[in-house]
Amino acid sequence: MQRSWLFVPGDSERKLAKAAGSGADVIILDLEDSVAAERRVAAHGLVREYLSAHKDRSTQQLWVRVNPLASGLALADLAGTMPGAPDGVLLPKPDAAAEVMTLAAHLDAFEAAFGLEAGHTRILPVATETALGMFQLGAYRGLSPRLAGLTWGAEDLAAALGATTNRQPDGAYTLTFQLARSLCLLGAAAAEVDAIDTITVDFRDRAGLEREAEQARREGFRGKMAIHPDQVEPINRAFTPTEAEIAFARRVVAAFEVAGTGTIAIDGKMVDMPHLKQARKLLERLPG
Ligand code: COA
Ligand code: MG
Repeated sequence: MQRSWLFVPGDSERKLAKAAGSGADVIILDLEDSVAAERRVAAHGLVREYLSAHKDRSTQQLWVRVNPLASGLALADLAGTMPGAPDGVLLPKPDAAAEVMTLAAHLDAFEAAFGLEAGHTRILPVATETALGMFQLGAYRGLSPRLAGLTWGAEDLAAALGATTNRQPDGAYTLTFQLARSLCLLGAAAAEVDAIDTITVDFRDRAGLEREAEQARREGFRGKMAIHPDQVEPINRAFTPTEAEIAFARRVVAAFEVAGTGTIAIDGKMVDMPHLKQARKLLERLPG
């Protein structure tokens, strides 16, 4: 299960040292917005060393966020870090879904160059960070088997729009940002990959984070990104099915095994095919 995705600035030895112990399912070694331009080359070295020093990825995957393809910096980011065999690459600010194919072709070349298994490196686009990108959310299906999911970003979209805020006074996202979130969810389902919710900027507001994470899971997101180690545990908890949910899913599956297809009643409520599908999906995703 990839529930929590923790950003770690790729040029910070101090934060890199804290990453492994954070409990995050995925560490995102960042080369983009959290790294100043003059630190980028140093970050390549630190990230590559980190990857090489953490070869066992069975409990924590290591991904790299490169700079946008349009920046002209992504190839150098890949050249500097692919020798460490990251599990995946976050693709920021795509203007077009087809950027996944461009990145996939780059990855083909770097995997061959560095003796890595072909197709090993997955891709997660941050798919709502530009205005053009927002019109592409339905276009991710079938582009590459590397596509692991879709996530969204509210901060860069605000910058792209010249919006001074993306929240209403009550803390809820304004309409355009709710739309981004929703299109991410729909686009991921259309592409049959995981939807991963965006970061919560206010890392001291634990209650707010718990609310957002729980809400996201109820709506179908499979995980959420984090910027601070304190956010990892609440995210992992929110995206782990409860004992009651697992037990109910088992009952639904068992009931249909007896009844065959059709509609049945459990605890006085109608249960039919959509519920069976949901139950099977939940059970399939359990670890072990
Ligand atoms: N990964 C690993 N360790 C982190 C961390 C992170 N994302 N964020 C904080 N820490 C560490 C700190 O270094 C500190 O450890 P230390 O005392 O050994 O230095 C400890 O956790 C507590 O941190 P705290 O003092 O509460 O926060 P801070 O003021 O040091 O950092 C941020 C706050 C926002 C600057 C920091 O969390 C951060 O850099 N987050 C990631 C930002 C990022 O990657 N953004 C791009 C994606 S949107
Ligand atoms: Mg950004």
